[in-house]
Amino acid sequence: MSVLSLEHVSVRYPGAGRDVVKDVSLSVDAGQVLGIVGESGSGKSTLLKAWLGLVPVTAGVVAWSGTDLSTLSSRELATRRSAVQPVFQDPGAALNPRLQIRASLAEPFEIHSRPVSEAELVRLLSEVQLGAEVLERRPHELSAGMKQRVALARALALNPSTLVLDEPVSALDVSVQAQVIELLTTLRTKRQLNLVLVSHDLGVIRALSTHVAVLFAGRVVEQGTLEEVFRAPLHPYTQSLVSDAVKPLVDRPIAPEPGCSFRARCPFATDACHFTPRLEPRGHLVACVRSA
Ligand SMILES: Nc1ncnc2c1ncn2[C@@H]1O[C@H](COP(=O)(O)OP(=O)(O)OP(=O)(O)O)[C@@H](O)[C@H]1O
Ligand code: SF4
Ligand SMILES: [Mg+2]
Repeated sequence: MSVLSLEHVSVRYPGAGRDVVKDVSLSVDAGQVLGIVGESGSGKSTLLKAWLGLVPVTAGVVAWSGTDLSTLSSRELATRRSAVQPVFQDPGAALNPRLQIRASLAEPFEIHSRPVSEAELVRLLSEVQLGAEVLERRPHELSAGMKQRVALARALALNPSTLVLDEPVSALDVSVQAQVIELLTTLRTKRQLNLVLVSHDLGVIRALSTHVAVLFAGRVVEQGTLEEVFRAPLHPYTQSLVSDAVKPLVDRPIAPEPGCSFRARCPFATDACHFTPRLEPRGHLVACVRSA
């Protein structure tokens, strides 16, 4: 059974004229790291929020360990939240600027009425390679990298099975990015975590993921194992991300549906691209008429 799954999920924000996530089906099994890559505005954060039960879906089913979230009461959902923890891009946002780190780290335990000892807080910090002295600090006294480590420690507080990470290193300097990626790799093994990771940065996706989904204009256009997608990308958009060989016409807009949303930028577009391509197996999954 999948740890997390989406079946034909669409999301439309109230008042918006279009779906920003369109008919997405994805799953994460135990031990997997699903990397979702896509450009700004492609719907990555919305997709993660739908998966976390933070935005309502307009269609489809969101499930955690096989349980459809829409069948849970808000109380049941709150109880299950400790198992699936988000980490967001802005490390400062997760931390109250007025509180010492001690209080921010203790908060998840308080919310779940669980007592926590000083030793447990120190152990949590050591897991993210921070010293006990950090407990006394306030967020403004920490670097961005340290804040993201604290945010990770906070996400780990209630022993989640899964972390859902939205651009977890984008706000950090490149050298710090590498350290946090290494830390995530270590934590994943040590705690046997499943990860869902969103990034616009292919390097980050490549460093962490076992499986990859490529999102364009709200749709998954290609999906497979890391090796399948990186070694043999089939969709022209993925090809343009992975290699320099295919140059998309980047200044062109997203084409309206029906039809392939990439057709305004695609060097291979033909009349056949005026039908919206379905995600179909060609070794791995791709939504493009060209590779048919
Ligand atoms: N709360 C909201 N209400 C209405 N529209 C929204 C809302 N949040 C996002 N959108 C729109 O939905 C689309 C997808 O946004 P989303 O933030 O999911 O993309 P993203 O891939 O995470 O982008 P980025 O890489 O910039 O973070 C965009 O067109 C955005 O303007
Ligand atoms: S369906 Fe057509 S426009 Fe879309 S990516 Fe494939 S070839 Fe390009
Ligand atoms: Mg986003």
